[in-house]
Amino acid sequence: MDFKHYSVMKQECIDALNIKSDGNYLDCTVGGAGHSFEIAKKLKNGKLLCLDKDEVALNFSKEKLKDFKNVMFYKCDFKDFKQAMENYNIKKFDGILIDLGVSSYQIDTAERGFSYMHNAPLDMRMNQEQTFSAYDIVNKWQEKDLAKIFFEYGEEKFSRQIASNIVKARKQKPIESTFELVEIIEKSIPAKFKFSGGHPAKRVFQALRIEVNSELEGLYECLIELARSLNVGGRMAVLSFHSLEDRIVKQAFALLSKDCICPPKIPICVCNHKAEIKLINKKPILATKQELSENSRSHSAKLRIIEKI
Ligand SMILES: C[S@@+](CC[C@H](N)C(=O)[O-])C[C@H]1O[C@@H](n2cnc3c(N)ncnc32)[C@H](O)[C@@H]1O
Repeated sequence: MDFKHYSVMKQECIDALNIKSDGNYLDCTVGGAGHSFEIAKKLKNGKLLCLDKDEVALNFSKEKLKDFKNVMFYKCDFKDFKQAMENYNIKKFDGILIDLGVSSYQIDTAERGFSYMHNAPLDMRMNQEQTFSAYDIVNKWQEKDLAKIFFEYGEEKFSRQIASNIVKARKQKPIESTFELVEIIEKSIPAKFKFSGGHPAKRVFQALRIEVNSELEGLYECLIELARSLNVGGRMAVLSFHSLEDRIVKQAFALLSKDCICPPKIPICVCNHKAEIKLINKKPILATKQELSENSRSHSAKLRIIEKI
């Protein structure tokens, strides 16, 4: 099986993790194992635990990493990483990588329904055992809730018009395919704005994908828990692909890196908060020009790195 995915900022992520050959590593989003392969190559007695909620990705990675010893796999949402740690009796990590979002394999596999470029059933589930898909949102949600996610998760200016036209269309018949949805979106956006921010369906598809896979829900709390599962000197690197994700990563790392979180008006510290990490980079690392020329997905990528203190 061919699993096409260009691993974003691969070298930067590996460098960020400062890999020790006998350390324990966690790849929260193994995907096509592009990053994990490089981590595994650097280990001697160390361990690598790979998570993904997509069974196809996990099976592909198992095959790709089969020649390495001490590589473990667990199917779950990385927000449930503690289950995987318990399962393999791992107490702490020396490095954690999160490469958020979808893989090119998921986008390019038409029948997964992630792409507005292919006609397929409305799906977008990363975990194919999940019962709830994009079809349920598009066909069952109230108009105001549709408009809300299109606006909040897609930053779509015409969110209300699109939601209203979805509700009108589904009164005639259920909206079953990606192209039926694309047609409704295209009709809802005034001509002069239609192609001003990329493909007209891009933002609504992003919003649906985020909602179907609960991509932002619990991410902040999870990042804090993940940082706390690092050994002192351990590193965590997070790649994000849109401003909503990056904001959550930035805020979680800011909280963890501060010695005091009292409101500015309070003259003396009463919170007793202590920094748990240091920021390795204050500004996010972006892909090099070379990488940008090779992979369009790298354009929106931001890498943030922390170290446990
Ligand atoms: C961008 S790809 C990772 C690519 C990988 N780093 C590589 O180099 O091949 C993201 C992967 O993470 C998975 N994923 C996204 N969010 C997840 C979550 N919350 N829990 C578990 N897996 C998730 C997706 O199914 C997808 O396979």
